[in-house]
Amino acid sequence: NPPSLTDPFGRRIDYLRLSVTDRCDLRCGYCLPKGFKGFEEPAHWLSFDEIERVVAAFTALGVRRVRLTGGEPLMRRGLTELAERLSALPGLDDLSLSSNATQLESLAAPLARAGVRRLNVSLDSLNPEVFRQITGGDLAQVLRGIAAAQDAGMNPIRVNTVAMRGINDTEIEDILDYCAARGFTLRLIETMPMGATGQAAASAFGDLEPIRQRLQARFELIPDILPGGGPARYYRVAGTDTRLGFITPLSQHFCATCNRVRLTVEGALYLCLGQDHSYPLRDLLRAGIDAAELQMHLRQAMALKPERHEFNERPGQVVRFMSMTGG
Ligand code: GTP
Ligand code: 5AD
Ligand code: SF4
Repeated sequence: NPPSLTDPFGRRIDYLRLSVTDRCDLRCGYCLPKGFKGFEEPAHWLSFDEIERVVAAFTALGVRRVRLTGGEPLMRRGLTELAERLSALPGLDDLSLSSNATQLESLAAPLARAGVRRLNVSLDSLNPEVFRQITGGDLAQVLRGIAAAQDAGMNPIRVNTVAMRGINDTEIEDILDYCAARGFTLRLIETMPMGATGQAAASAFGDLEPIRQRLQARFELIPDILPGGGPARYYRVAGTDTRLGFITPLSQHFCATCNRVRLTVEGALYLCLGQDHSYPLRDLLRAGIDAAELQMHLRQAMALKPERHEFNERPGQVVRFMSMTGG
């Protein structure tokens, strides 16, 4: 049997979400606290060499998928070089990116050449004013970034929309049309109570069921399975190629099939998005442990993976912001 990572609940872990920065150029209210930290890279951030050592240890243990996240991953200087190095690791066959798309106009083509194929982009509104209100950013710039990614051959492209009652929920059909016209998959997301910002946002926005019912009344939705291994439940709109996904951590969690862990830019391995347990790797890396020891630590860390999040039972429990792990 090839080596693999399994947690105490028998779940096979083969997907790493790799946060390469906790910074972002946007300020989505459900994600980051206000305030800007600048672009200098603190010494406690993992270097590309250190990241590569950790990812190599994961791939040696059967992890096949790595998703680059942030903050906004494109805020990390030299990300293309890191992508190239990770793509070259034996055993890694799916290098993907979750981005806000603001920097993709210039970076999509080099990243695609560096082996980034699958792209998930955040897009909460097609109305420039609403977009600015939610994110603080420029919608036109984001749409140019997404177009550049499509031109660069990134595929599939999935659009992430955090559905917020009274803010963007009446726009879902328009966003779906935008996606359908371009061959993108739309995924609607429930707001998770991560950190103080996420907690405030999550308490204001409910579950996706009313939106699903509204869409179901208009289109016939046929259950579908898409590659990727993530938590979305997908449907195909009958008579079209349009795919629609629902990510419902609060109303219908998917923890029983969880396949992933997360590494922060500070070198902490978080075993669950919805829990604050973590396993510190940075000091071990800097103490010079070898590949075999690193793999032993990864195996040991899996023992800490909780069965599931407790967002509903303990909504104030997770203190870290979404921007620490990028979802
Ligand atoms: P693929 O399925 O690989 O396309 O990606 P993904 O949906 O896992 O990644 P993406 O970064 O686009 O995340 C979309 C949303 O799903 C974000 O809100 C994430 O926080 C959320 N999400 C991703 N993985 C998990 C998870 O394991 N648990 C929970 N609760 N939410 C998750
Ligand atoms: N709840 C749910 N999704 C969130 N995201 C950011 N913060 C939250 C939150 N509190 C989403 C972003 C992005 C994805 C990676 O995570 O919209 O698309
Ligand atoms: Fe896995 Fe935790 Fe996400 Fe549940 S909340 S799917 S256990 S990471």
